[in-house]
Amino acid sequence: MRIFLLISIIFSFSWSVYLSNKSCKECHKDIYNEYQRSYHSKGYFNDILHRSIADKISSKKYDCAVCHMPAAQDINALATGLERPNSSDIRQKDAISCFLCHEIAYVKKAHRYNNIILTKQTEGYKPSLYGGLENPDENDKHSSLNNPLYKDNVCKGCHAHKRNQNDLLIFKAMDDKQSSKECIKCHMPYILGGSENMNKKARKEHRSHYFYGIHDDQMRKKSVDLSIDIKKDNHIKVKLTNKMAHPLIIQSARKMYLRVIVKRGNKIIWSNKADKNSYFKYDYLKDKKSVIIPYSATSYRWFNNLEAKKSKNYDYFIEDLKKGDKIIASFYMVLAKKECIDFVGLAKSGLDKPLLAKKVTKIVK
Ligand code: HEC
Ligand code: HEC
Ligand code: HEC
Ligand code: HEC
Ligand code: HEC
Repeated sequence: MRIFLLISIIFSFSWSVYLSNKSCKECHKDIYNEYQRSYHSKGYFNDILHRSIADKISSKKYDCAVCHMPAAQDINALATGLERPNSSDIRQKDAISCFLCHEIAYVKKAHRYNNIILTKQTEGYKPSLYGGLENPDENDKHSSLNNPLYKDNVCKGCHAHKRNQNDLLIFKAMDDKQSSKECIKCHMPYILGGSENMNKKARKEHRSHYFYGIHDDQMRKKSVDLSIDIKKDNHIKVKLTNKMAHPLIIQSARKMYLRVIVKRGNKIIWSNKADKNSYFKYDYLKDKKSVIIPYSATSYRWFNNLEAKKSKNYDYFIEDLKKGDKIIASFYMVLAKKECIDFVGLAKSGLDKPLLAKKVTKIVK
């Protein structure tokens, strides 16, 4: 038994070459610095929202590891509670690590969530990393292989969909047929500078690794279009268009809403606050009772989202609309709903503060 155990340990280590995020900095300084600011570098140890929710669900099991700590040596041990997240383990601390993301050989579609299949790296050999570069230069740390996956399918490995243990769909950012090309175009635009310090291939640009998303002011502006149309019969029509390749809400802690107000001078004389359809969010039920975290939910209590590239029209009647009144339509995003942060003990974190994405104004003529 002991001999068997020893052999299996040696065997598993022999497949476990790992290069840390930090080790890439030596040659990919710009990309490393971008990545460090991105949310792919965040996880259990440096993303307070993630950690609070994970700990609230279970103080023993960490089954978020498969997506949030995918470079960990033993994901199963974390998921079943045999092991707890350990901040001195570099593979765990590296979150959605550079090395891991670049050793994905293919994506296997699956019902609950897709699986990423990694290339086998053998101890003693130079690791192979995949990417989309044409004619990559040589180096002594890794070999570089062009893999079409890095244009077509890579995001689908983790971002496609997720069902909870009761088979309830709790997020969906993309269809199985959708290409990652679009995602990369928006979230990894080309920026100036080569992809490696020496830049022997004299490349002018590289794919940004900031992965700007909901946390970035400038990126949020690109999410939706808003327009206001004032009709003669005191109706105002507001059109909201989702410009992204995914639904407005992906992460279920989020809330987004369209706020329309009418101002006369400095006074707000009307608002659409009472319109339930102006709020985009998921509320969950478990056995007919409301639950905050979708982990154990069995159905939705309220579900409102706007699919990719789709529009929604709002028609409001304002009884005493007058010439000179100012109509303001704004779209806000909230990182975590108030009930969510209260529930996980982050009431003072400010994560429920509305973040402006878009604002348009029109004056009644
Ligand atoms: C199937 C893969 C997968 C699993 C399993 C998973 N997540 Fe996520 N999670 C993601 C992806 C992808 C994102 C990014 C999508 C987004 O932000 O909308 C994300 C984003 C998040 C965010 C938002 C990040 C932030 O700080 O604003 C939180 C919080 C979160 N997950 C918590 C959890 C917790 C807790 C678990 C375990 C109970 C878990 N997730 C399990 C894939 C997963
Ligand atoms: C000793 C220097 C060195 C180190 C350390 C290094 N790289 Fe590279 N890497 C290079 C060079 C050189 C290229 C080719 C650049 C070019 O052609 O413009 C490259 C290319 C790549 C590519 C593109 C592959 C392709 O085929 O498209 C990826 C991905 C990559 N490196 C990831 C990493 C990651 C992740 C790390 C850290 C684990 C890392 N590298 C560490 C030197 C290095
Ligand atoms: C190995 C799994 C994995 C892969 C592959 C992956 N992601 Fe992520 N991504 C995540 C997780 C998990 C998060 C949430 C991290 C957090 O906030 O805790 C995330 C977060 C994000 C965010 C949110 C940034 C923010 O500010 O909130 C964006 C945007 C994103 N990913 C885009 C992409 C794109 C585009 C691709 C494909 C090129 C991709 N990801 C591939 C796991 C992955
Ligand atoms: C037209 C540009 C555009 C395209 C294409 C696009 N996104 Fe986004 N994405 C955004 C913007 C803007 C945000 C920030 C606003 C938001 O979160 O809704 C965002 C947010 C995100 C987030 C963070 C959501 C959250 O709540 O934390 C993830 C994850 C993400 N995108 C992944 C993807 C994936 C995967 C694809 C490919 C299917 C993709 N994006 C395609 C513009 C785009
Ligand atoms: C979420 C997955 C993900 C993570 C994490 C990630 N990358 Fe990438 N990286 C990509 C994708 C996808 C591309 C290719 C985009 C394309 O070719 O269209 C890429 C491209 C590259 C390239 C080639 C340059 C170029 O312009 O295409 C290098 C070098 C690279 N990455 C290094 C790194 C390093 C170093 C880190 C960590 C500091 C890192 N990557 C983290 C997904 C990732």
